[in-house]
Amino acid sequence: MTQAEMTRLIAAAQKAREQAYAPYSQYRVGAAVLTEEGEVYLGCNVENAVYPATCCAERVAIFKAVSEGRRRFRALAVATSNGGSPCGICRQVMREFAPEMVVYIANANGEVRRTTVAELLPDSFGPEDLGFVTGK
Ligand code: THU
Repeated sequence: MTQAEMTRLIAAAQKAREQAYAPYSQYRVGAAVLTEEGEVYLGCNVENAVYPATCCAERVAIFKAVSEGRRRFRALAVATSNGGSPCGICRQVMREFAPEMVVYIANANGEVRRTTVAELLPDSFGPEDLGFVTGK
């Protein structure tokens, strides 16, 4: 992961945040996931009047990529106002496809924290626990 790729990915997440549909929480989230092939898929949170139907930005980005045939990811950036960390459900979805992925967490001032899926979700349950070897 070069500095330029990281900067580009974070900028993409900040841009994706503009599309957030968050009329209930007003908490706008953008995400960008970088595939092994070098493409970037964007996501934003999409809320719903039936609150549990909401989907987080990270999952929107990953599901968009998976639905287009991409299953291997190098990094994900998430952008919020205050540098909020990905929720547990999103961590589990990241772990399914990219247990070694780097995660950048950015706030609106452009401050960035670097972490990994393994750090965010230690001792996790995954495909291997069901007897699957992830060939992707
Ligand atoms: N949200 C995300 O999009 N990603 C996260 O990791 C944390 C939470 C969204 C869901 C909801 O629309 C709003 O932020 C408040 O929870």
